[in-house]
Amino acid sequence: MTTYNFDEMIERRGSGSYKWDSYDPDVIPMFVADMDFRSPEPVIQALHERVELGVFGYDMLPPQELFDVLIERYQRLYGWQVEKEDFIFLPNLVNGLYVTAQMLSSTTDRMMVNSPVYWPFLSSAAKSDHPMDMVPLRQVNEGAIMRYEIDFDALEAAITPQTKLFLLCNPHNPVGRVFEKWELEKLAEICLRNDILICSDEIHCDLVYPPHQHTPIATLSPEVEAQTITLFAPSKTFNVPGLGLGFALIPDENLRERFKQVYEGMGVHVGILSITGGLAAYRDGQEWLDQVQVYLKDNRDFAVDYIREHMPDVHVTIPEGTYLLWLDFRDAGLPEEPYKFFLEHAQVALSGNWEPQGFEGCVRLNFGCPRSQLEKALQRLCEAYSNVRESV
Ligand SMILES: Cc1ncc(COP(=O)(O)O)c(C=O)c1O
Repeated sequence: MTTYNFDEMIERRGSGSYKWDSYDPDVIPMFVADMDFRSPEPVIQALHERVELGVFGYDMLPPQELFDVLIERYQRLYGWQVEKEDFIFLPNLVNGLYVTAQMLSSTTDRMMVNSPVYWPFLSSAAKSDHPMDMVPLRQVNEGAIMRYEIDFDALEAAITPQTKLFLLCNPHNPVGRVFEKWELEKLAEICLRNDILICSDEIHCDLVYPPHQHTPIATLSPEVEAQTITLFAPSKTFNVPGLGLGFALIPDENLRERFKQVYEGMGVHVGILSITGGLAAYRDGQEWLDQVQVYLKDNRDFAVDYIREHMPDVHVTIPEGTYLLWLDFRDAGLPEEPYKFFLEHAQVALSGNWEPQGFEGCVRLNFGCPRSQLEKALQRLCEAYSNVRESV
């Protein structure tokens, strides 16, 4: 058995890293959703071996083994019986969102999301010229802890005859919910009743903390499956987002053909190293995944406890999945948006700019990093926050 050391600090500055090279070297980057851990050893090994061949011609992609591994995976995890034909491989998951948005037939067809949400959901609508309706999740505070729920009444009220596509994020970025089966059933019932296509981004499905369990919405019933495009990727699960690989799982033949028609018109294809890394990850990465989940859960608990103890006016989620913490500073009296404030006064980069979605005062913090880095970032946030409180 390989024991992975997630405490190791790996120097990523100067490697062309979006996370580490976007800001000054004294800034701790806790914004973009990649983790600061080495990927599973089998992935690194498989890439080495493929590179060693030294010839990078066109391969017969994807190999049968990748289909076999994924078909077995979905059967084992969710009792979901899928076929080879149901898969369409993509250069990344966001591409799947864009393709789906472009499947809508006219610019009057409306799209819908629960906000706040990972911003490419919104740009998929903007880039394809479709109006987007944002239905805010309902925030429920219990002391300093907050939780978000789908506001089904608001959702129903926002649906119009032009609403054609609901983009679901489950597990949810940024609020960390892993939606329960009854919530998905209710959502699916509304979509089916109103003839709304569901596109479900399930990229965070493998990073879920007990006792929560992920349910792919498409597994609820054959009717829901027939109206759902599910998007997956190894990027978050195995920390390989830079390899660029995703796939759409679309069991309904008509829907799949519509998706393919748009996708094939884009002239993109998936590279061999992406497939090599993705296959090794899904086939041999479980040991790493088991260990990273334990480490992430401890990081989550450490961060939540730290914030509750040191920043009493701040509301925080306890993510059920993902390595993303959502923080609400609206009661904290900061003089400006928290991501700007903390970048300047704490040298910590958080994911901000949630104001256009109606969530000013909120930020997202990525805790997928060595504990020492997380602790240092939290200390800096706390110090800057305390200085403001003392000056009031
Ligand atoms: C919900 C969600 N979807 C998609 C992505 C990006 O996936 P990819 O890099 O495969 O496009 C992210 C990355 O943060 C994400 O959180």
